[in-house]
Amino acid sequence: MNENLRIAVVGATGVVGTEVLSTLLLRDFPAEQLSVLASERSEGEELAYGEETLEVEPVSAETLRGIGLVLLATPADASRTLAPLAQAAGAWVVDVSSAFRADGTVPLVLPGFNSEALGTPFKGRIVSLPSAVTTAVATLVEPLRQAFGVAQVQVTALMGVSSSGQRGLKELEQQTSALLSGREPEAHVFPHRVGFNLVPQVGPFMANSPWTEEEAGWTLECARLFASKGEVPVVAGTAVQVPTFFGHGLSLHVRLKKPAPVDQARAALKGSPALKVLDSPTEKVYPLPSLVTADPTIHVGRLRSFPQAPEWLTLFATVDNAGRGAALNLVEAGLRLAGSDS
Ligand SMILES: NC(=O)c1ccc[n+]([C@@H]2O[C@H](COP(=O)([O-])OP(=O)(O)OC[C@H]3O[C@@H](n4cnc5c(N)ncnc54)[C@H](OP(=O)(O)O)[C@@H]3O)[C@@H](O)[C@H]2O)c1
Repeated sequence: MNENLRIAVVGATGVVGTEVLSTLLLRDFPAEQLSVLASERSEGEELAYGEETLEVEPVSAETLRGIGLVLLATPADASRTLAPLAQAAGAWVVDVSSAFRADGTVPLVLPGFNSEALGTPFKGRIVSLPSAVTTAVATLVEPLRQAFGVAQVQVTALMGVSSSGQRGLKELEQQTSALLSGREPEAHVFPHRVGFNLVPQVGPFMANSPWTEEEAGWTLECARLFASKGEVPVVAGTAVQVPTFFGHGLSLHVRLKKPAPVDQARAALKGSPALKVLDSPTEKVYPLPSLVTADPTIHVGRLRSFPQAPEWLTLFATVDNAGRGAALNLVEAGLRLAGSDS
């Protein structure tokens, strides 16, 4: 670890920021080299960091001075302003929002998938990370692509409310409590009641398009990530908001370039250290959001194919959206970028 590196976690009071602090603590990153920043709303709030207590400061050119690495866990509109501010202050910036994912001048990096992009010179000091769903899809598809080739991936993502941050968590809590007390709750964060319901819309729709920004993001981000592999599967699907707090479930249909028996597909997935195969359905062993919380691996199971279409593989996976799908990527890309990943 570079002993002089100073890190600022911006958005430290949020769902992802909280996970970033846990990840840095696990890696023994020293508290005196860590700044926890957020908006003015959180000024003075105290956050536990192991035995220590860190005081939240509002982010500004002043509070960014002397910081070598800025981990941005803020909404996209805030990141668009804060990334150039941190860059101007001389820091490396890693952003987990959607602000720069489509920007061809900013590298889109999934650590462990295309980390080499961090070693290739690029303009500016900003790096963007993919969404939690793209993180899971790319990690699952890559061993299958290497073994059989992959032409197409259809995804249904069942997304826990923590994907909408602290406000999403609070809304499900309030709605569940209201419904259990016989009251009809109001919807503020989500377009409809999510408590005891399913909503086939996560985030806003694209302008003049039937796709949501979340869904369109998977297609675009996978195209950018897989371009480095020389083979780009078409990834598309539906994002559904579900009434769970943490963890996303993904139902995937993968069209391989050659037919593969399920045993061979399972062996290919087992070969990836980023995956945990849970696939003994008769013993009720398969991925569950409740099992994946705080696990840096992506869980996969329910592998199936059928003789009429032997090139299609059906599976179910889960990912810890805020941890594996966001915070881990921020910390791993950041430390590598700052030359401190030892
Ligand atoms: N949650 C997930 O599973 C997930 C997964 C992948 C990517 N992401 C992305 O990660 C980012 C953070 O998401 P989250 O779920 O952690 O949201 P969150 O719980 O709502 O937290 C947002 C954080 O950003 C801070 N913030 C908001 N506006 C700010 C501003 N103008 N200046 C400085 N700080 C500001 C908030 O500070 P205050 O507390 O002071 O308001 C809070 O600390 C988003 O871009 C999201 O799309 C989230």
